[in-house]
Amino acid sequence: QKRFVNDTIRNDFHRRFLNSVAVDLLKAAGDIEGVDFQFTDALVGGAAIDATGCPLPDETLEVCKASDAVLLAAIGGYKWDTLPPEQRPEKGLLNLRAGLGTFANLRPAVVLSHLADASSLKREIVDGVDIMIVRELVGGIYFGQPRGFKTNEKGQKVGYNTMIYSEPEIERIAHVAFQLARKRQKRLCSVEKSNVLEVSMLWREVVTEIGKQYPDVELSHMYVDNAAMQIIRNPKSFDTIVTGNIFGDILSDAASMLTGSLGMLPSASTSNDGPGIFEPVHGSAPDIAGQDLANPLAMVLSAAMMCRYGLSMPQVAEHLENAVSSALDQGYRTADLYSDGTTKVGCREMGDVLLKALQQKSPVL
Ligand code: NAD
Ligand code: IPM
Ligand code: MN
Repeated sequence: QKRFVNDTIRNDFHRRFLNSVAVDLLKAAGDIEGVDFQFTDALVGGAAIDATGCPLPDETLEVCKASDAVLLAAIGGYKWDTLPPEQRPEKGLLNLRAGLGTFANLRPAVVLSHLADASSLKREIVDGVDIMIVRELVGGIYFGQPRGFKTNEKGQKVGYNTMIYSEPEIERIAHVAFQLARKRQKRLCSVEKSNVLEVSMLWREVVTEIGKQYPDVELSHMYVDNAAMQIIRNPKSFDTIVTGNIFGDILSDAASMLTGSLGMLPSASTSNDGPGIFEPVHGSAPDIAGQDLANPLAMVLSAAMMCRYGLSMPQVAEHLENAVSSALDQGYRTADLYSDGTTKVGCREMGDVLLKALQQKSPVL
């Protein structure tokens, strides 16, 4: 069985490490399950800018489209922060998401019981948390027109963006969220700001309407400011959340701290057809670059989501997930999760521990 997995992780900062940890594990798990993964490297973000002047070269989009799935670490870095909006690494990522039409971004925040003490919140608040954030990924204020800079009638410079959603865009993400909630605890919370924004009023109306097709799922609505507070106050009150692009971006970083570290959160971005994108929620962490400090677990868990959701290979995903829980069981922690009584390891050493755990649990016969 052969699958083509495209890998666009080669560029900015430590993604080379994150990438190689995840790829080594995929290869090892593939060997055990008789899956021959084929990897193609392609440039995106800062490395693509440096090599070609463009954050998403046409060639990269073509390679991604021709692949079964896209595994991606993170883009961005100080070096490119002063470029104009169209030329920044972030644009490469946004154009890749838009180019593949991956409108449904699943961001699970699951607190592994080994790590309940690593959270900045009390164990009893976070232990057992299992939230699925369904974030709309190719619309909203990130893509709305008009946008830009201009000079107003007083001669002052202004920047502006448009937060816009159409009925079909809300409908399709609502269906994804209801269907996921159905497989979970059947509770869906739709998050918006309909006390102020027209776009959110429409969001609430459409989600409510679609909800009639899912009478077995309990639907609730919450304003985003309250949701940000409730995620910290009582995270276990949430099961599945559906929300727009920018609110989902912010809430998922907040939810990451329930799990102990942003370095733990994976994501899957899917469309109704074509390859999905699988990437950690975190960015390129330039503040710790080059020190072998990055936590590779979000990357490895993203590779697991790729196997589960993108390639329909849950058995390969399980090898990766089991390796993560085994490494944590044995007390290994990268610096972001380290506490007394655990063993501090760097990114590469964590990779070695994971590989050993994977191979020991499932010896190649
Ligand atoms: P960030 O997620 O890179 O970092 C935020 C904080 O979390 C930093 O202190 C960082 O050290 C820490 N952190 C993140 N990942 C970690 C990991 N795996 N292990 C240990 N610690 C980790 O966010 P930022 O600093 O706001 O952004 C940095 C750059 O990354 C920017 O250029 C931004 O645009 C980009 N970014 C890219 C993505 C993506 O590619 N999906 C996501 C977010 C940010
Ligand atoms: C994320 C990131 C991206 C986003 C940026 C880098 C464009 O923050 O994946 O969460 O805002 O979607
Ligand atoms: Mn983000």
